Amino acid sequence: MVGLSTEVIDGTTAEATALDSRTASHDGTLKLVEGSASQSQRHESSILHVSGGAAYIDDLPEPKGLLHLVPGLSTKAHARILAMDMEAVRAAPGVVLVLTAEDIPGHNDVSPVGKHDEPLLAEDIVSYYGQMIFAVVAETRAQARAAVRLAKIEYEDLPAILDIAQSRAAGSPLVWRSLTMSRGDAEAALSRAPRRISGSLSVGGQEHFYLEGQAAMAVPGEEGEMRIWSSTQHPTETQLMVTHVLNCPGALVTVEVRRMGGGFGGKETQANGPACLAALAASLTGQATKLRLDRDDDMVITGKRHDFVIDYDVGFDDDGRIYAVDMVLAARCGWSADLSGPVTDRALFHADNAYYYPTVRLRSEPLKTNTQSNTAYRGFGGPQGIVGAERLIEEIAYATGLDPLDVRLRNTYETGTPRDLTPYHMNVEDSIAADIMKTLAEDCDYKDRRKAIRAFNGKSHFIRRGIALLPVKFGIAFTATHYNQAGALVHIYTDGSVQVNHGGCEMGQGLHTKMVQIVMREFALEADRVRITATNTGKVPNTSATAASSGADLNGMAVLDAVRKIKTRLVIFAAEHWSIPQEQISFTPEGVLAGKILIPFPDLIKAAYFARISLSSNGFYKTPKIHWNPDTGRGRPFLYFAYGASCSEVAVDTLTGEMRIERVDILHDAGQSLNPAIDIGQVEGAFVQGAGWLTTEELVWDASGRLRTHAPSTYKIPGCSDRPRIFNVRLLDNAPNQEETIFRSKAVGEPPFVHGLSVLHAISDALASLDDYHTCPRLDAPATPETILRCASRLRAEASGRAAAGTA
Ligand code: MTE
Ligand code: MOS
Repeated sequence: MVGLSTEVIDGTTAEATALDSRTASHDGTLKLVEGSASQSQRHESSILHVSGGAAYIDDLPEPKGLLHLVPGLSTKAHARILAMDMEAVRAAPGVVLVLTAEDIPGHNDVSPVGKHDEPLLAEDIVSYYGQMIFAVVAETRAQARAAVRLAKIEYEDLPAILDIAQSRAAGSPLVWRSLTMSRGDAEAALSRAPRRISGSLSVGGQEHFYLEGQAAMAVPGEEGEMRIWSSTQHPTETQLMVTHVLNCPGALVTVEVRRMGGGFGGKETQANGPACLAALAASLTGQATKLRLDRDDDMVITGKRHDFVIDYDVGFDDDGRIYAVDMVLAARCGWSADLSGPVTDRALFHADNAYYYPTVRLRSEPLKTNTQSNTAYRGFGGPQGIVGAERLIEEIAYATGLDPLDVRLRNTYETGTPRDLTPYHMNVEDSIAADIMKTLAEDCDYKDRRKAIRAFNGKSHFIRRGIALLPVKFGIAFTATHYNQAGALVHIYTDGSVQVNHGGCEMGQGLHTKMVQIVMREFALEADRVRITATNTGKVPNTSATAASSGADLNGMAVLDAVRKIKTRLVIFAAEHWSIPQEQISFTPEGVLAGKILIPFPDLIKAAYFARISLSSNGFYKTPKIHWNPDTGRGRPFLYFAYGASCSEVAVDTLTGEMRIERVDILHDAGQSLNPAIDIGQVEGAFVQGAGWLTTEELVWDASGRLRTHAPSTYKIPGCSDRPRIFNVRLLDNAPNQEETIFRSKAVGEPPFVHGLSVLHAISDALASLDDYHTCPRLDAPATPETILRCASRLRAEASGRAAAGTA
């Protein structure tokens, strides 16, 4: 039984996941900071993760008579279905049932935003290559897979729009309203600015590549009851989608998730389809049904990070000060709305990164295309907006000859001055971006290394080095205000052990560990006395997605609320029972101290039980202060911002386009971290995922709209050997959140994803040397070797043109 063992690191164990409580340096040393208010406790499932004991959907014990479901997919990007011949499929060995749209008793719709634009199974029209049209239910998975291939579907092709350019050419059909944020007259301010540059950039999408693919198992019960185990970030929504499809009350459907093998946003909405199909099959057959998507099918069916084309126009002066910004952020959203509205909104919310734009206009274009329905992905559009902001900085730096870091520092928000207003009219009350950049620059020797790199590039013909230091400012809260609520349920059993449940889902990020720590801290208990249980819509209802990095912020406060309710009852009881003033009762690691009497925690609980005190409580939390009106583009959508900065150094082979990350230094703001080891893990993982997005991960569709990069053989996520040679990650010290968040911590899930951007800019810096830093390289992402080579030859041509003109 290893599930309960979550030890506090005591300095004698060097567990693989147990990094130093404040700094992680990959030179194998562990340094512990004692007496830290927050504790590095290892992930509650770490041993299970590495020993194979952690159960994912496909590992659950299989109910008797379990059936297996495999979906059949469209092989057209946009077409009318003329005929479907399923005879051979039905006749195939082991096939029990073939599901089509006609078999759905309720609504054939799984749109998570109520747009009714997302049929679970296609009806007469298919809208992308990979869309689910039917599903085969068979006795074994292999039989279902074999049978799916026997379907004969006749199509009539319709014109397909595949990318942003084609969408614009076709009149820019949108999946969601376009959002505009503005302050002042951007056009007038741009024309008044001493200098002005306009341009365009493109930034690619990204496959989630969660290790556990989409999976669900549905088990029918009495009188229409349905229990579903799903790899979902949003059990409540999965529950509701199932009720739509089955046409039954929510009270009949229970969704449970113990953990996901990664979600990264890819299971915020897109787990609903698989769960609904499993439930539909279970409902029609009366037998338990499981669906585990094949990896290739998963990549072909599900939506990804949105790729963007960003058109920009920036006015500035010779000192690198920004006067005005005008940007249009267009996104390829795919065939249905899904979360594209809030994703493109969030891109706008972050198109300033950490910078003050005195006059600004930002506009989103959520474009409809005949491709997968793009969805949430770590950062939720924010990183794409930040890519836009940082391109402006680069343009200004090359135009003025200033160090990009100096341009950054000159434009950072200044709290308490008129230069603290965002494009959405929220004051930045906590700007520490400049301080973080300066501290990191000092710590990692940025200035001297930049000089040394330039000297190296002067002598090295083909290998060029580059360095870049960038900030991140990331807004925390769901921009859909009603999502900012959470619930929890805490039970103390009569032996004094505690079970905690809350509305958030564990996907590897350590949320459950942090929730356990809150209970441990409040009751002064050891980890083995506190058990976290699977997220379950029957325990805590009406939950929000575990997303927007707010899992710990929201559920942590709800857990604390539940714990404190029970604690209050216990204190009142103990005060009466032992005739001691309430103020003299405290919970200590040795036991509960009532004046001078030390009562072991289990004894207190037993006494309270006999006195008929309720030892169970729910808890609730809603985020204060926030509001946002998309019609006016104004509000306070975020409670606070999380900050950080990263500095990357790369070496680029300008003959082959190969790139290596030589060194990375990150200083990240997790507030008063709830668990520094876990938070550092989040920063490291997010950085690597961000760097992968901007360098090696490239999605390619062919002219028929078929995704050609649908397996690890063609889609390159970072491997171990791609990690930085030197990788220093540090959390900001003594940085309690100025807002009243759970123990003054800050959300950490998504913000550090943006640190990967310093790699793109370091590559750009390396390439700029080819033209002696005269030209902004305008390096688009992903900076694959091909992109790097194209950029290198462009810059070499600039350089020789300049030499020929005698202006070098
Ligand atoms: N970390 C791991 N290991 N696996 C994940 O799937 N998802 C990220 C981030 N970190 C993810 C992760 C995303 S997209 C979000 S929004 C947050 O975790 C969600 O969890 P939190 O709100 O509890 O931080
Ligand atoms: Mo994260 S993209 O909000 O699931």
